[in-house]
Amino acid sequence: MVHKALTIAGSDNSGGAGIQADLKVFSAFGVYGMSAITSVTVQNSFGVISSNPVPSQIVYDQIKAVVEDIGADAVKIGMLQTEENVIAVYQAVVDFGIKNLIVDTVIKSKNGKFLLDKSAVDIFIKKIIPASYVVTPNIDEAELITGMEIKSVDDMKNAAVEISKMGASAVIVKGGHLPQGKNVIDVVYFGGEFLLMEYPYVETRNTHGTGCTFSAAITACLSKGIDCIKAIRIARAYVQGAIENSLSLGKGRGSLNHFWKVM
Ligand SMILES: Nc1ncnc2c1ncn2[C@@H]1O[C@H](COP(=O)(O)OP(=O)(O)OP(=O)(O)O)[C@@H](O)[C@H]1O
Ligand SMILES: [Mg+2]
Repeated sequence: MVHKALTIAGSDNSGGAGIQADLKVFSAFGVYGMSAITSVTVQNSFGVISSNPVPSQIVYDQIKAVVEDIGADAVKIGMLQTEENVIAVYQAVVDFGIKNLIVDTVIKSKNGKFLLDKSAVDIFIKKIIPASYVVTPNIDEAELITGMEIKSVDDMKNAAVEISKMGASAVIVKGGHLPQGKNVIDVVYFGGEFLLMEYPYVETRNTHGTGCTFSAAITACLSKGIDCIKAIRIARAYVQGAIENSLSLGKGRGSLNHFWKVM
């Protein structure tokens, strides 16, 4: 039996993040990957040069075309960029009854650049987060979503609880931007319980697409019917390996190695 996953996200022509990373991750997990492109970004290892939204009707139609025909066992949302695209994707989630939804809250990039238009942030928080099964904000995004300041693991825990109250079943506040000594801690909140995932911090420039890779790996595992906490644990271990074996491609930030291990 083939498991199927759909990613609704931006295209990263440099191959390290976005749709391209998601499809590589799905492949590494042996999952059949499909995509609905929301934005065509122009980027390389130095960063994003431009982001060009796809018209919202075309975003909706891409989702409709595959979910009505092929079907998807799990669906991931990444960069949506515009308010129109947030609305179109939310409409598709409602119209097609998408339940196994993993939302990577792509609002701000590592260098603080807004990847979601400021005008779209409110509606994204009100509509997309409550529809999600798993949501994966980084520290900056968790601060923005909750209005809380996050400086410690306890703050991450409090933010995770607040975000779960918005309707997400599992919340992962990712600690990649807040190393705790030699380690990175991601806080998972699911079923009223916390799980702290602690891994050694990898000293590398090649961290382009860590967030996309992590959420795509969770999506791949959930599409296979693996239970939520196990899926998150497998995905985190996979990301660690992909960072440890990263590829120094280009002259800026290189990419993770999505095929360090075929799962
Ligand atoms: N240098 C690192 N060493 C080990 N793990 C890391 C490192 N950087 C990020 N991670 C892990 O990678 C995953 C993604 O976290 P991160 O906080 O980087 O997300 P993000 O900011 O959304 O990424 P992106 O900028 O790609 O959107 C998390 O599991 C985090 O712990
Ligand atoms: Mg991110």
